[in-house]
Amino acid sequence: MALIELKQVEKSFAGKKGTIHAVNGVNLAIEAKDVYGIVGYSGAGKSTLVRLLNGLEASTSGQVLVNNEDVAKLQGSALRTFRKKVGMIFQHFNLLWSRTVSENIQLPLELAGVAKDKRQQKAQELLSLVGLDGRGDAYPSQLSGGQKQRVGIARALANDPDILLCDEATSALDPQTTEEVLELLASINQKLGLTIVLITHEMNVIRKICNKVAVMELGKIVEEGSVREVFRHPQQEVTKIFVQQDLEPKADPSALLAEFIKENPTGTLATLHFLENNAGEPVVSQAIRKFPIDISIVYGNIERSTGSSFGTLTVQFTGDSAEIEQAIAFIEAQQVGVEVLHRG
Ligand SMILES: Nc1ncnc2c1ncn2[C@@H]1O[C@H](COP(=O)(O)OP(=O)(O)OP(=O)(O)O)[C@@H](O)[C@H]1O
Ligand SMILES: [Mg+2]
Repeated sequence: MALIELKQVEKSFAGKKGTIHAVNGVNLAIEAKDVYGIVGYSGAGKSTLVRLLNGLEASTSGQVLVNNEDVAKLQGSALRTFRKKVGMIFQHFNLLWSRTVSENIQLPLELAGVAKDKRQQKAQELLSLVGLDGRGDAYPSQLSGGQKQRVGIARALANDPDILLCDEATSALDPQTTEEVLELLASINQKLGLTIVLITHEMNVIRKICNKVAVMELGKIVEEGSVREVFRHPQQEVTKIFVQQDLEPKADPSALLAEFIKENPTGTLATLHFLENNAGEPVVSQAIRKFPIDISIVYGNIERSTGSSFGTLTVQFTGDSAEIEQAIAFIEAQQVGVEVLHRG
């Protein structure tokens, strides 16, 4: 039994032009300790879906089961206890500006009636966990975006939840800060054994910390699986676009490559596509050891995921042309795609 199960879940809203099926027949299973990513374009229904998971929204039909309990059936103290077990962080942090960092973190504990000294002690521990030691007396306005989100994370963890929901939690942050916040989330997942459900429109966020992913389009989950599988074999058009956007070289290398061929007309230039192979660059060094040739790296964009590499590497082979062809055949046999751009 998965920690979170959705069975034929629908959530509709009455709109001006008729009913909006924000979530439309979703089946989903999220296991304990998963870092489960949900990706999709704006309006796909991602936020509505996560709001069903903490009972902020009630489904129109179908079942939302968390820890084997039907969320729709929870009431009174059972609902309050349940909500404590599900923390949430947001794109714009949702901090109270008139309260210090420590007071923000203590808010859920205050609401739960926890004594002051206990609250303060917990806030200290959480500040340390999120890397904000000594900043408890600062006000949110004195912090950077990344630090604000750390406060949001600490506050979400105040009641020791089992599940953390993240709604576009890094979308307001620059790439470097995003990376740091994602690392923090990954370490919390490991350290506390917390299950994370993360929604985003950025595939690089999924690649960096999720083990599983679901792709949402028009209220439906159109594709799901392990991050590794979905990156290697995206099935749906929308998934292919998301994966491609993330793995494509960030700058256009064609001018660089044309220049390279002009300066080095004798070698063989080829682009290696690492899709199936999780060893990554070792294939190149193996080829150099096996054949009396040289391989130099010209241009590359290898992206790492948890335990795999994806992306492309453009290399130049120099040496005897028959040996080069054999080396290319060897690399292809390692499940690496080889696209020859120029033969010297
Ligand atoms: N309370 C509401 N009342 C009416 N329509 C709503 C409500 N909440 C969401 N919707 C509609 O449901 C659909 C899904 O919205 P949702 O916010 O879940 O999408 P999203 O994937 O989170 O998008 P974004 O990436 O922009 O945050 C949209 O068409 C939206 O307008
Ligand atoms: Mg949203």
